[in-house]
Amino acid sequence: MKKVLITAGPTREPIDPVRFLSNRSSGKMGYALAEAARDAGWDVTLVSGPVCLDPLTGVSMVNVTTAAEMYDAVAEHISGMDLVICCAAVADYTPAVVEGQKLKKTGEEMKLTLVRTKDILGSCREVFGFQKTLVGFAAETQDLERYAREKLERKACDWIAANRVDGTSSGFEVDHNEIILFSAAGETIELPRDTKQNVAQRMLDILTNA
Ligand code: PMT
Repeated sequence: MKKVLITAGPTREPIDPVRFLSNRSSGKMGYALAEAARDAGWDVTLVSGPVCLDPLTGVSMVNVTTAAEMYDAVAEHISGMDLVICCAAVADYTPAVVEGQKLKKTGEEMKLTLVRTKDILGSCREVFGFQKTLVGFAAETQDLERYAREKLERKACDWIAANRVDGTSSGFEVDHNEIILFSAAGETIELPRDTKQNVAQRMLDILTNA
């Protein structure tokens, strides 16, 4: 049985015991990909950030909270995978210090120092030694194609799913999505707006028949 690892959902980067930095990812797109793969007979490992979706049955669920935990989970499970799809909206920065107690109000301004997180998708080739099919997403509000192609190359992917996220009818949180797939081999395939389930199904067909 072929094996796929999928990341989904947001990460949460703690500031203090009650506050965190995160984003609007619901996990719906990543979970739709995991369901489509499971239904197509794949052995699926889903590394999920904190979401409000029900855990998927018939899938190995690995629940994480922070970008660092997601990195460690992917590092632990990537060996033996035939396909890796990084759909999660991972924080690029995390607070340099996590306060032990709830921060108190002081002056009119407050400065938070952030440090870079590790790039999970960007580590798959060089750090984790993954050599099979690697698929990333590029969530962009402008210059979709340029930024997506740049990520395709920089992160050494076989495919990148370029996802416009500047509207309200597709992308983050909603039930629909619209993406353009770019491959390292030079293909461009548009997947017009549809339910995330149908987009996931089509995407998986393309990735596995390529
Ligand atoms: O979850 P939903 O509400 O259904 O929304 C779906 C989605 C919009 C989140 C999804 O379709 C999507 O576009 N996911 C990528 C979100 C993102 O953070 O993209 P990015 O362009 O910032 O990151 C580029 C790629 O690097 C992504 O594959 C991301 O998973 C990966 N990455 C980023 C940072 C990091 N530290 N590690 C990573 O692996």
